[in-house]
Amino acid sequence: MTGIQIVQSANTVPERVVPNDELNTYMETSDEWISTRTGIKQRHVSTGQTTSDLCTSVAQKLLDQSGWQASDLDFIIVSTMSPDYLTPATAAIVQGRIGATNAFAFDLNAACSGFIYGLKVAEGLLQAPGSRGMLIGGEVLSKLVDWHERSTAVLFGDGAAGVLLENVKSTSSAFLATDLQTIGELGDRLTAGYQPVNSVFAMDSTDPHRQYFEMDGRAVYKFATHQVPESIERAVNQAGLLVDDIDYFILHQANQRILDQIAKRLDQPTDKFLSNVAAYGNTSAASVPILLDEAIQHGTLQRGQTIALGGFGGGLTVGTQIIKY
Ligand code: ACO
Repeated sequence: MTGIQIVQSANTVPERVVPNDELNTYMETSDEWISTRTGIKQRHVSTGQTTSDLCTSVAQKLLDQSGWQASDLDFIIVSTMSPDYLTPATAAIVQGRIGATNAFAFDLNAACSGFIYGLKVAEGLLQAPGSRGMLIGGEVLSKLVDWHERSTAVLFGDGAAGVLLENVKSTSSAFLATDLQTIGELGDRLTAGYQPVNSVFAMDSTDPHRQYFEMDGRAVYKFATHQVPESIERAVNQAGLLVDDIDYFILHQANQRILDQIAKRLDQPTDKFLSNVAAYGNTSAASVPILLDEAIQHGTLQRGQTIALGGFGGGLTVGTQIIKY
């Protein structure tokens, strides 16, 4: 058991709020359809902030609130599927802006499981006593959405959040177990951001719409409601615990119906499944840390409690991290 502690959390979402009703301007939909199918009431949408802008804001808050210096950081990881560039990495931009000169920095893309995959990578990097890292999940998904395609546009939002992690050589907090799975053969069920091969040697005639989200909603729903409970059960077993021992489930916020179905499959009360999907929609790699930060800020989550953090999404990927907070 490593003594890795979540020292600080923070989040930043764009100011602009788009309620369901406003989406009628761009597509034929309704608050009633969106609310009953997904639980989403509104989302925050960037009016120009990039993923690195949101992540830098989170990074600055993390430092300000913890009292850590940027130079204390050994690494910065940004989990994102919507980086500003393919290079430089979003994490490298953040590193430069906050002046974390001792930190190496890189992005990780596991779509909506990105924060969970990032925790596993961070754990591996935090083996030395006293080592310190920053993990942020940040997305501007609004640039990957076709705002006239109602079957996907209503689902997503923008935001970023993250944590400071430290190897504190303590048994009072810990990363207890991880379960990560990737089902690459189902990757075409959820795609976004296709990069066409256009050069003097090749002309890619792929439909340009493939830059936007394309999703087999029913297949993703089925995948999530089956694979996530199984992943949680595997991780809980690995930790030597029972599902009943988990105080809170902080899962990727894609859809309230998915969360309710997972609770049912695990035979757990729905109030153990924290939710803010109504306020933010699906913010991919940012959703778990935004919810985690809110749970910490609101005092819902207390030191010593056992939580299951979980992600699922593009890849297809799924992951669970059991933490004694
Ligand atoms: N407003 C109004 N009507 C709509 C909308 C909309 N926004 N979107 C679709 N419809 C219509 C469809 O055209 C269809 O009409 P038809 O029957 O006349 O053809 C009808 O509503 C039903 O459409 P379905 O797609 O079958 O609706 P479904 O009940 O499957 O719900 C949903 C769709 C909410 C997307 C569901 O499949 C789901 O939750 N899937 C999981 C998706 C998800 O969460 N993905 C994200 C996870 S991965 C990640 O985070 C990146």
